[in-house]
Parts: sequence; structure tokens; C-alpha cells
Amino acid sequence: MRIAMVGSGYVGLVAGACFADLGHQVVIVDNDEAKLEALKNGQVPIHEQFLPELLSRHRGKGLEFSSNLQEAVQASEVIFVAVGTPQTESGEADLSFVESVAREISGALDGYKVIVEKSTVPVYTSEWVRKVILQNGTDPGCFDVASNPEFLREGTGVTDFLFPDRIVIGCDSERSAEVLRKVYAPMTDGSYYKSAGAIPRPDRASLPPLLLVTSSKSAELIKHASNSFLAMKISFINAVASICESVGADVNQVCQGVGSDSRIGRRFLNPGIGYGGSCFPKDVLAFRAVARECGYDFRLLDEVMHINEEQRTRFLRKVRSALWTLRGKNLGVLGLAFKGGTDDIRESPALFLIQALLQEGCHITAYDPAAMKRAEEVMQTEIRQSKIKFAASAYEAANGADALLILTEWDEFAHLDLDRLNQVLKYPIVIDGRNLYDSEVMSAHGFTYYSVGRAVSHPDGVPSTVLRNGAKRA
Ligand code: UDX
Ligand code: UDX
Repeated sequence: MRIAMVGSGYVGLVAGACFADLGHQVVIVDNDEAKLEALKNGQVPIHEQFLPELLSRHRGKGLEFSSNLQEAVQASEVIFVAVGTPQTESGEADLSFVESVAREISGALDGYKVIVEKSTVPVYTSEWVRKVILQNGTDPGCFDVASNPEFLREGTGVTDFLFPDRIVIGCDSERSAEVLRKVYAPMTDGSYYKSAGAIPRPDRASLPPLLLVTSSKSAELIKHASNSFLAMKISFINAVASICESVGADVNQVCQGVGSDSRIGRRFLNPGIGYGGSCFPKDVLAFRAVARECGYDFRLLDEVMHINEEQRTRFLRKVRSALWTLRGKNLGVLGLAFKGGTDDIRESPALFLIQALLQEGCHITAYDPAAMKRAEEVMQTEIRQSKIKFAASAYEAANGADALLILTEWDEFAHLDLDRLNQVLKYPIVIDGRNLYDSEVMSAHGFTYYSVGRAVSHPDGVPSTVLRNGAKRA
């Protein structure tokens, strides 16, 4: 099929490249000329597993890039809209990009086409898009608006897109549902998975994915409700982790016990420094605002957000309790991205904590496998003031530091050479905001180890009241 994808961000670029891999003819449209030039020249603007392979496989063949939306609309049967939907000051989603794209599309419609929202948008957006297109005098018979929410996670976007648990198509006409069924047919009939060169199947994928056809309003709600539920699951376990700390229980054991109930499930039950990123914080707030507008006071979501903020404050308190005063302390920090596997720093809890620690007078040496360039861009002032510098490896970040903080759940941070780490640190103190290590293993390697929802562990053989430098603990 001929597909236009408007927006080449984390969602649009991944979805466009995956549609090309399914065998469709795709044109990705963006109004950022510099980004388009880079994409045409073979650069990959974001860190996503398998994306470089897909782009080089299809660039110039099944996948093109353009700034001309009208031309792309005319050449396509289906137009996906994946432009950003940032947050307004009142917490609602700002739909002005969606509206202006809809207006521009309406001027180019020259035969039956389906316009599909891929961005995360509040319920009723489909109706608004339809109204905007009709306002421009477009014949109601020559288009349909549908909602096809995307559930990919950054970092594993390509695999999530191609091996989803479910595909939701929200259509209010059978004609548009038929078009979207055709778009996803290579996945739902299983032919893509048998093709040579298909992206490798992840262990947990059950094939073929379930296709759910709903109304557009239900599809819009499915997306907001899914993200809010996952955020709630994380806040719930973070609250449980706080209780574990008070009573001396181990949150990992609690997670295993609770998550083994198949009605609950183990995924998204990892405690830490709270959720971040471009979706959960924005979507929980937006869903809260949508509910209010519809007359429902969704206070549960207020508490989800409250626990998430508190989780960062609790972690700061933990750093203080480990190091006593913070002014002038040198800290090694592992992680800048909002989670492992991505270079995205939007709403990153790691960056929030780094800013707070810098304000308290710490000096930081940070390392992240993918997000340092983006972090450097937003921390120019702190770099000039020599408050923060960036290292080439985890060991360089730890070198000479009073303590090491782990703030992002990168796989490589879970497999460090602990003896080497102990040697390079000034004091063997690790404060882990992502629970990447076993407390016993850290003790055995001589660390004082702080984590989330578990008791502090001390070096084996050293009484818990004595630190390596001989100082008595308060
Ligand atoms: C997406 C979704 O759109 C958002 O609703 C969801 O909550 C998160 O994922 P993302 O892909 O991360 O957003 O957005 P971003 O990386 O900001 O990319 C949006 C792209 O659209 C940019 O490349 C931007 O240049 C482009 N754009 C924006 C247009 O081409 N036209 C516009 O009018 C506005
Ligand atoms: C999320 C949704 O998972 C995805 O379905 C949707 O399309 C976009 O929003 P994403 O924001 O890319 O994806 O990342 P995700 O893996 O969901 O993590 C979000 C945040 O929650 C990260 O900060 C992560 O560190 C945190 N998290 C996740 C936890 O703290 N604990 C967990 O158990 C899982």
C-alpha cells in the first residue's frame, strides 16, 4: 500500500521504517528540513535497535523522505499522523500540530483516503480532525478518520512495533477498517514473520498479534488508559518499596511474589526513581485533564503522579543519608537517559536528580552509553561552570568519586567489573536507583550498597558501623 507518515520523531520514524519492512511504499513527511536532509544522507537521528538496518534496507526504495505534505497525501492511500502532542501548562495535550496537519491534508484530498492518528491524543480528537477537514469544504465521502494508537517503547521500538501483543484500529466505518486491515495484513496473516530478513522474534512474542477493531473513541481511550495503568503499576510498586524500607523487607522478593500471580504479572513492576520519558508523565496528566473535562474526577491519577515525584525526593534523601553533607562532594553518575536503551532525555528522572544534586553543590562526572550528546546540549551552563563533566566509560565516571549513583537501567550498568569499580572509587559506596545488583554480591565485593526498597548492605566482614575510611557511621 502507499502510506504517508507525517512526523519523523520516535514514533513516526520507527513506524514508517517498519511499514516499509512490511512491504509498503512509505513516504515520511516532516517540516524540519535539517532532519530530513540528515535522514536522506543516511544519518539516524535517534538511538533505536534495528532502526539503522531498516533505514538502510529501504531508503530510496520503499522509504522516502519529503517536506511536501500535499504531494505525499496525493500519492498515498493512508496518511498516518505522528506529530508531537506536547503538554500545555494546564496539563492538556497541545493538539495544534495535529490540527494544522489536518488542515493541510484537507487541501490535498483528491480521492478516498484514510487519515489515521498515530500520536497519543485525547478522546474526541478523531471527531475534531474530521470536523476540521469538513470545514474546508471537503466531500465527506472522500475520507475517513481513524485512530491507531502505537504502543512501542523507545529503545525497543522496532521489535515492539513488529511483534505487538495487539494492534488496535479504531474505525467508525467498515471502509476505513478494511484499509487498515490491509496495512497490517503481513503481520496478522503471519507472512511477514516467515519472510527472509524479518526482524528477529523476541522470546515473549505470541504470533500472530491480536487485531482489535474498535470505535475511534474506544481506541483513543485504550491508549491513554494503557499508559496510565502502566504508570500506576510503577507508582504502586514504588509505594510498596517505601514500606519495604520501613519494615526491613526486600522489595525484589515482594515483586516476585506479587508478580507471579498471572492476574498481576511481573512486567512494569520494577521499583526505582520513578517513571519519566515523553509519554507516561504527559499522558497521565492529559488523561487526568480529559477525565475532568468529561465530568469524572480521576483522583487516583493525582496519587500516581504524587508518588512518582516523591520517589525522586526519597532518592535524594538516600544520597544525603549515605554521604551526609553534599557540598563539594564528587559523584560519579551512571545514566542520563530516562530509561535504558535510548538516547532520549525528555522528562528523565536521572537529569532531574543531577540538577538537584548540582544545586546542592555536588560535582558530577556522568556517563551514558547513548544520551551524553543530548545531555551536553541542555547542560551547557553547568558544563561552563565546571559543575558537570562527561566521561568515556562507567569506570572513568567512578574514578576518584565519593560515591557512584546508578540512575538509568542500562544493561551494561548491570554487568560492571565490580572489583575494578571498587578500586577506582575513592569510597566504595554505590547508590543504585534501579536495583541492578544483588545486595549480597555488592557486600561480597566490598561495597556499601544502597538501593530502592531493600536494606542498606555493607562490605562483608566489616561491622555495619564502620566505613572503609575508618570513620564511624552516625
Ligand atoms: C510521538 C507522538 O506523536 C506523541 O503523541 C506521543 O505521545 C509520543 O510519541 P514523538 O515521535 O516522540 O511523539 O515526537 P517527536 O520526536 O517530537 O517528533 C515529532 C515530529 O513531527 C518531529 O520530527 C517534527 O519536526 C514533526 N512535525 C511536528 C511536523 O512534521 N509537522 C508539525 O506540524 C509538527
Ligand atoms: C511507554 C509505554 O511503555 C509504551 O507502550 C508507549 O507507546 C509509550 O510510553 P516508553 O516511554 O518508551 O514507553 O518507556 P517505558 O519502557 O514504558 O518506560 C517508561 C518509564 O518507566 C521509564 O522511565 C522507565 O525507567 C520507567 N519504568 C518502567 C520503571 O520505573 N519501572 C518499570 O518496571 C518499567
